[in-house]
Amino acid sequence: MCGIVGYIGERDIKNRLIEGLRELEYRGYDSAGIAVMQDGRIESFKAVGKLLNLEEKTKNFSTDGHGVGIGHTRWATHGKPTELNAHPHMGEYSYVVHNGIIENYREIKGMLEKEGITFLSQTDTEVIVHLFEKEAEREDDLFSAFKATIELLDGAYAVLLVTKKAPDTIFFARKGSPMIIGRNSRGEIFFASSDAPLIGEAEEVSYMKDGTVGFVTSETIHTEGDELQFVPLAGDKMTAQKGGYRFFMEKEIYEQYDVMSDTMIGRVLDRDIHFEEIDEEFLKGISRIKLCACGTSYHAALTSSYLFERLSKIPVNVEIASEFRYKEPLLTDDTLFIVISQSGETADTLEALKMAKEAGLKTLAICNVDNSSIVRLADASILTRAGIEKGVASTKAFATQVMVLWMLSLYFAKKRGSLSEERIQEEIKYMNYVPKVLQKSLEVHEKCKRLSKRYLHGHGFFFIGRDIFFPLALEGALKLKEISYLHAEGYPAGEMKHGPIALADAELFTIALMPKTLLYDKTKSNVEELSARDSTILSISPEMFDLADDFILTHPHNHPMLEFFEMMIVEQLLAMEIAIRLGNDVDMPRNLAKSVTVE
Ligand code: AGP
Repeated sequence: MCGIVGYIGERDIKNRLIEGLRELEYRGYDSAGIAVMQDGRIESFKAVGKLLNLEEKTKNFSTDGHGVGIGHTRWATHGKPTELNAHPHMGEYSYVVHNGIIENYREIKGMLEKEGITFLSQTDTEVIVHLFEKEAEREDDLFSAFKATIELLDGAYAVLLVTKKAPDTIFFARKGSPMIIGRNSRGEIFFASSDAPLIGEAEEVSYMKDGTVGFVTSETIHTEGDELQFVPLAGDKMTAQKGGYRFFMEKEIYEQYDVMSDTMIGRVLDRDIHFEEIDEEFLKGISRIKLCACGTSYHAALTSSYLFERLSKIPVNVEIASEFRYKEPLLTDDTLFIVISQSGETADTLEALKMAKEAGLKTLAICNVDNSSIVRLADASILTRAGIEKGVASTKAFATQVMVLWMLSLYFAKKRGSLSEERIQEEIKYMNYVPKVLQKSLEVHEKCKRLSKRYLHGHGFFFIGRDIFFPLALEGALKLKEISYLHAEGYPAGEMKHGPIALADAELFTIALMPKTLLYDKTKSNVEELSARDSTILSISPEMFDLADDFILTHPHNHPMLEFFEMMIVEQLLAMEIAIRLGNDVDMPRNLAKSVTVE
């Protein structure tokens, strides 16, 4: 995903920008560029490929004394990874870098072209700089022109813009794509897409809110609307990377809002689903899907099996990779073999992928790490774009895997004509709502914290749910096991009476996932059966349930997947708070490794 940096200060600007971009390399990119402004002159450099190429191009360039700069790593969405499409994009006298997608760029471009403006690139970003210069002709001052420009943009963006007409200024705006501003006592100002480039440079940072628009000079930071709230940034990398959170897991739970927008950008379009990684040709001859993964990724696979069958009307089966390898599976070449892995290095999943390839199956990887072994081996791969996940207990990687799989099931539905256009549009409408569902809920977090002290003993936990809430129950139980070391199981709610109900008593904790949009009454009956046998019930639901001992009230939604994502966060926070109360190392639980490269 694209990365943005910006700098105002006295040190060599090129070095600051390139160092910053290096820290953002993990986001993935295919070209990079910078623009440096000093004494009213702007120099810009761009290169395709790795940062080394940009360094090579700029090796004879340096600055001395005060100046301003912006930089960008581009991950192509609109237009190929070429130098012309790389950022910064220029107008007559201004340069812009942008992360996100301008959804109405075609209309703006058409309008500007009619006014005689020539575009050099195929990107959506270039409209911003031309629009700004157009507005600058009309408006009294440059900030008004910048604000007017931003108001005309639909979509997601983090934008930095510099112009010869305001030599010491960076204009900035953020909506839907992350951006942080940092400063230090040397009077330097920094911008970045994540805190990694700011560590050791900025002393305090502000995590900009959506809708922030402003400008900064060496003298002043000005924003419209909410004031920027600055918080200290720790100097040591480890503490700083946690961004004020107690654990990486906590930070990663809260990051889900931002990363989900990244996952969706360029894929969930206004009225369509698009994957540049695959096309109709790739799906030719496919009449079934086999999904294969381990652990949390397996739970994402299981969730999607309901979605693929329901939306795409394609038969699906799901395999645990370590089982699949030794069962002498019957593989037919009309099967698309999809592997799911956060790390892309899980030995069992990798070996399963090799088997599928040897059997001549088409293979697709859904993975968070570009260039990992699984990505390199699969015929095609779709990156989940969750950013580095440090907590051993997977959170944001799971959320983004599920999202990609939901999008993929809709993509299949469209290509196979298995859903009406109206239904497809409805699904897209709800997909676009997911980031909002993942927004911080301090109230829910507080409730999980309070409840955690009641759920520390007992002889075990049952997470129960039906349909897609069954894999979510499995995931809730896995999260709790991994970091609290308490025994927990995930179970289909309707299956409890076939055996596990024998365990029910007051010391058995049942965490009941009770969505209103899917099989509510059925699940309720199952929970009633457990309550009648004195099990302690914690219900997670938008509706109060009088037989529950405790509730966590979720918001009412109109789509099961929205309820799914909200309940997922509740499970993650609850597991984490229980583990913290038990004094466990949440990020590095005993006996576990982030990447399981042994079978
Ligand atoms: C998740 O919380 C676990 N740490 C674990 O189950 C993990 O999902 C599993 O090892 C698979 O890893 P992968 O997604 O990197 O392949």
